[in-house]
Amino acid sequence: MSLKFQAARALRAVAWRIERPRRRRRRQAGPPLDAGPLTSPDSAPGSRKASWFFEDFPRFYLSSSTAPTTARLNLRYEAMFGENRDIFAGASVLDLASHDGRWSLAALATGARSVVGIEARPELVKAATENLGEYGYGADRASFVSGDVHEVLNTQDLKADVVVCLGFLYHTLRYNELLTGIRRTGARYLIIDTFSPHMMGPVPNVNVLTEDADEEGKAAADTYTEGQSVLVGRPNLAAIRIMLGAYGYRVERLSDWAGLLRDNPGTENCDDYANERRITIRCVSSQSSPA
Ligand SMILES: C[S@@+](CC[C@H](N)C(=O)[O-])C[C@H]1O[C@@H](n2cnc3c(N)ncnc32)[C@H](O)[C@@H]1O
Repeated sequence: MSLKFQAARALRAVAWRIERPRRRRRRQAGPPLDAGPLTSPDSAPGSRKASWFFEDFPRFYLSSSTAPTTARLNLRYEAMFGENRDIFAGASVLDLASHDGRWSLAALATGARSVVGIEARPELVKAATENLGEYGYGADRASFVSGDVHEVLNTQDLKADVVVCLGFLYHTLRYNELLTGIRRTGARYLIIDTFSPHMMGPVPNVNVLTEDADEEGKAAADTYTEGQSVLVGRPNLAAIRIMLGAYGYRVERLSDWAGLLRDNPGTENCDDYANERRITIRCVSSQSSPA
């Protein structure tokens, strides 16, 4: 072995020893907030039992055919609202793709002052208004706008403290319009609940496909639609981080789905969350000072 080779090996060994404690410290402190996946359960066993929120609002088990199963709705409530109570207290909320009003109701019942929902399908706007009215929330607290999310966000002057984008990011490919519109609301917080087949992959990736605008829970026809076919994408977390960064937001944390599924065993219809292809992300405006 040459002297040069031996010296290089010795230097590498020294470098490794110096770096090793730093690596250990990094692991103990948890991954940096805007880098790797944040999916290990960080909660004590037993602390993530579901409150079964929708048992008090059972109309939502029946008013939609899109993912209304009891367990899934109730666990999604915990991940999207229960874990984020602090940001809903007294907040004005904008609910993108508000469907039958399930999450608008959840926002109000979790402490929000008011909510505006945007939904493309008029029959769902009607259902949402009826559902919220039935549970005592009139037009002073909850209102719904019928139209394409991108158009409404960029043509109306809607302000909000919190924007929720739940089950919608994978029904669009119009990210610039969507994020410009969200930025225009002045929201400090954004909650995203979304799916990608490559969610935790390290390489930014958007899966492109088409959806049939005839289906209730899918992308609605918009100004760019040819026939019934809507072009949509499914960005993974790495791609979402880049998009958020371009519009002044960053990932603050992921909801603790591992803890929820650990503490509510036997839960059906949550495989996408269990295998980390679907996640719930809390994002914060980069201009906000740390809480
Ligand atoms: C999968 S559902 C999600 C419903 C609900 N937000 C949730 O997470 O349970 C998608 C919703 O997006 C609505 N939608 C699809 N494309 C839209 C668009 N361009 N503008 C507004 N709403 C749209 C659909 O009508 C449907 O209500």
